[in-house]
Amino acid sequence: MSSITQFLMERSSEPRLEAPAPPREVVDVALQCAARAPDHALLRPWRYLVIEGQALTALGELFAQACGDNDGDKARERAKSAPLRAPMIIVGIASPKPHKKVPDVEQIMSAAAGMSFLSLALSDAGYGVMWRSGSFAYDPAILEGLGLAEGETITGFLYTGTVSSEKPPVPRPSCADFVEEWSGPKQSRPWSV
Ligand SMILES: Cc1cc2nc3c(=O)[nH]c(=O)nc-3n(C[C@H](O)[C@H](O)[C@H](O)COP(=O)(O)O)c2cc1C
Repeated sequence: MSSITQFLMERSSEPRLEAPAPPREVVDVALQCAARAPDHALLRPWRYLVIEGQALTALGELFAQACGDNDGDKARERAKSAPLRAPMIIVGIASPKPHKKVPDVEQIMSAAAGMSFLSLALSDAGYGVMWRSGSFAYDPAILEGLGLAEGETITGFLYTGTVSSEKPPVPRPSCADFVEEWSGPKQSRPWSV
């Protein structure tokens, strides 16, 4: 088994993160890995925002402002402190470009593949990662506050930093649970033109 396969077999998300955040040179390499995502027609339909330090507090304010009138103070406080669960957040943004042959969904998948590559590279460098979305990822006020343009969406908030304590192992499904062999349509269809 190659070291890459071994690494993938052993990876897991880590929600308990603390400072230090990955340094800029590690983040740069990880973002270059993100840019290696398969990308139909080379549209580069993604971009990223790196958020750390005081800007995490500003993101928390944005989350709190997005809470509805029916949310209580507790929910607002939780929203405010959510970004402080890691010393760095990288926001993945899918930015589909108009194209005759490549529908938006393919471009969003490319952006999601980039998020995976980004998270794997950070993890390979020894940092913990946790890909999160939550309702904030779909809230128009948050999208506006983060500067998303019309048609752009958030693929996720990638929380990253130093693992403070590893999470317990997650049970992994076996291939038999989610793979079958397809050997042709169950009922043959009539030949038609
Ligand atoms: C698009 C996307 C959004 C996610 N959002 C959340 C989230 O908001 N909260 C959460 O606890 N896990 C979220 N997850 C799942 C975690 O990132 C993680 O995969 C899960 O906890 C399982 O851990 P594992 O990666 O070690 O298997 C999300 C995953 C994806 C792909």
